Amino acid sequence: MWDFFATVRHRHSIRHYQSDMPVEREKLHAILEMACAAPSAGDLQSYHIFVVTDEGRRTRLSEAAFGQAFLAEAPACLVFCSDPQRAQEKYGARGRELYALQDATIAAAYAQLAAVAAGLGSTWVGHFDEDAVRAVVAAPGHLVPVALISLGYPAEIPEPTPRRPLGEVVTYL
Ligand SMILES: Cc1cc2nc3c(=O)[nH]c(=O)nc-3n(C[C@H](O)[C@H](O)[C@H](O)COP(=O)(O)O)c2cc1C
Repeated sequence: MWDFFATVRHRHSIRHYQSDMPVEREKLHAILEMACAAPSAGDLQSYHIFVVTDEGRRTRLSEAAFGQAFLAEAPACLVFCSDPQRAQEKYGARGRELYALQDATIAAAYAQLAAVAAGLGSTWVGHFDEDAVRAVVAAPGHLVPVALISLGYPAEIPEPTPRRPLGEVVTYL
């Protein structure tokens, strides 16, 4: 088990997977539990997660993401949808327009880190046709797909990508 800092450092976008190595059910469950452990506005968890392992649907997800082939190659994909209606009931427009999206994205970020801790790789995919993704997972109309997280055993260990220097990103006051 890596400590938290090592886990964060070992997370890289993985775009090649061992497609013959499915993600064990227990690992999927553990990752989903970590996603749901993320903070959320009013503890409402204004999101829904679809777990796609079926090959036909993964192929359709890759098409919905404009041909990003690794989505079909990865044995699993988590489709994170925000639930603006749920957040709106308590928080009005701010819940609908901001909190639901934040809830869903924080949960997805936790899932990516949990994947690393479980020895898996992932990539966050945001470039997709929303309606096409909704159709693949048969999501009810009030859910908004916000992130596809491909999941599987890596077939590559990519070089870490550079980050902007802290001095450029951070202001101490
Ligand atoms: C909001 C968002 C959208 C992204 N969309 C895509 C995508 O559609 N396809 C893809 O291959 N990577 C996508 N990425 C992954 C980024 O390209 C990647 O995180 C970034 O280049 C840094 O590399 P690293 O994840 O290896 O640290 C996305 C990441 C985020 C946070």
